[in-house]
Amino acid sequence: MGTATKKRRVYGEHFTPIRIFKEFILPEIKDDLYQYVWVDLFAGEGNLILPILELIPNNKRINFFRNHIFLFDVQDEFIEKSIENAIKYGIPPDIAVENIRHMDTIKTYPNFLLNLEFPIYHITNPPYLYIGYIAKNSGTQVYLEYFRGGNEGYQDLYQLGMINDLRKGIPKMIYIIPSNFLFGASVSNKIRDDFLKYNTIKKAIIFEKEIFEYTGTNVAICFFEKKDIPKNEIIFFEGTKINKLIQKRVYTLVPKNHYRAGSEFEKFLDENRSPKPLGINYYLTKMDVEKNKGNFEITVIDANNFNGKEYEKMLIHINKNLYDRIRSNILFIRTVDTGSINGRIGLFKIKDVYNVNGILVTKARYRTHPIQIFLTPPLSTEEQILLKNYFNLILEYFRKKTDSEFMTTYKYSNSEYTRKYLGLSQVKKLIQTFPILILKDNEKDYFNELIIDGNIKELFSFLKMKNGKKELNLWG
Ligand SMILES: C[S@@+](CC[C@H](N)C(=O)[O-])C[C@H]1O[C@@H](n2cnc3c(N)ncnc32)[C@H](O)[C@@H]1O
Repeated sequence: MGTATKKRRVYGEHFTPIRIFKEFILPEIKDDLYQYVWVDLFAGEGNLILPILELIPNNKRINFFRNHIFLFDVQDEFIEKSIENAIKYGIPPDIAVENIRHMDTIKTYPNFLLNLEFPIYHITNPPYLYIGYIAKNSGTQVYLEYFRGGNEGYQDLYQLGMINDLRKGIPKMIYIIPSNFLFGASVSNKIRDDFLKYNTIKKAIIFEKEIFEYTGTNVAICFFEKKDIPKNEIIFFEGTKINKLIQKRVYTLVPKNHYRAGSEFEKFLDENRSPKPLGINYYLTKMDVEKNKGNFEITVIDANNFNGKEYEKMLIHINKNLYDRIRSNILFIRTVDTGSINGRIGLFKIKDVYNVNGILVTKARYRTHPIQIFLTPPLSTEEQILLKNYFNLILEYFRKKTDSEFMTTYKYSNSEYTRKYLGLSQVKKLIQTFPILILKDNEKDYFNELIIDGNIKELFSFLKMKNGKKELNLWG
């Protein structure tokens, strides 16, 4: 990694383009400019605050700056840059240096701001740095101390910025932060639980394309407002999602789900786990083959050997036991969208896609490779096809309903849709809603029909009836 890149990482330097400020933030605040002190505690070159001055008449600018603008940063070079930028807007240098200050604002809150004539409106794009990265890299380990004491449990530098604002009771905030604040689980459950008890989200603009030059992090602009009375209650807000299209939808954040956005899929999984779930094993490995050598011959693809066009095929020789096991488990999971319409995540028949019987891992396991799935107890071919159709139907239903928000964005690309990744634990949980082991013989046809017809409504009530049966929990 070059020194510039490293420094960008360490300080989380991703400056917000002024056009983003003008398009998405300025319209929200322009009528209240004289009502607040405009603060950025992580100001970089001042892009999120200084352009406000363009709306202030020349003869009022200096006074306005003095009473209404404060910028901070921990790096001198950016303080100088912000001062230069303020000067360009007609602020004299001696006044600019008063309100643009060097400070580590994660460590120390500039408390004097709380005693000014106007309340604080904090607009910022704070540094982002995940604690896992901080702990592993020598250049960033100094930050670990920020996460001690009362800050224990937070997962990223941006969360510390937010929690400091919460502690000071800041009434209004606009944060540009990783979208994982809204959609993440373990990385952001705590910050949402703590922060959203005291503050509500008025709206959010969620970017699914890059807005910063140097980072692939998905970000959202979140508009927060302090609640009159702190309370855990459902939050509704309008989110505008920007990718190739602009889509709006109302998000519902429920305290019980740690206020996590796009949690409809997880809710379905939790509520519909079968009382008698299937056991699932992933991967056919080289070790399995070595342990089960024999005279039975079978064709597989080598998941670690993709020649740019297709996976290399190979013949393996194994005992009857493994031979039967491979042949009787006909499905694999594709965990990553390929980008084409036919290449979406889902369960597929190995034979249909690769024209072999198995998928062998010869080197490291990758969660993004095609992965053969082994089920216990074994299912018949018909039942596995039913599982495949069931899995893909439910998955596509929730992808459509939530715009795939329960999945991780895999990579920015120019494909027809945003490519996503589905975690293996989600795959397992979805398979474990499949009620095959508790279906009575006379229910199988009906269940099959619901899936073939894509009758989601009836399917959901059927699942509820089957999986929700308390007495069957004996097997759970
Ligand atoms: C993501 S940049 C954003 C800058 C600006 N808000 C913008 O949107 O253009 C984050 C800034 O925070 C500064 N920073 C990082 N750690 C800081 C700390 N502990 N105290 C104050 N500023 C810090 C960095 O130097 C960097 O300029």
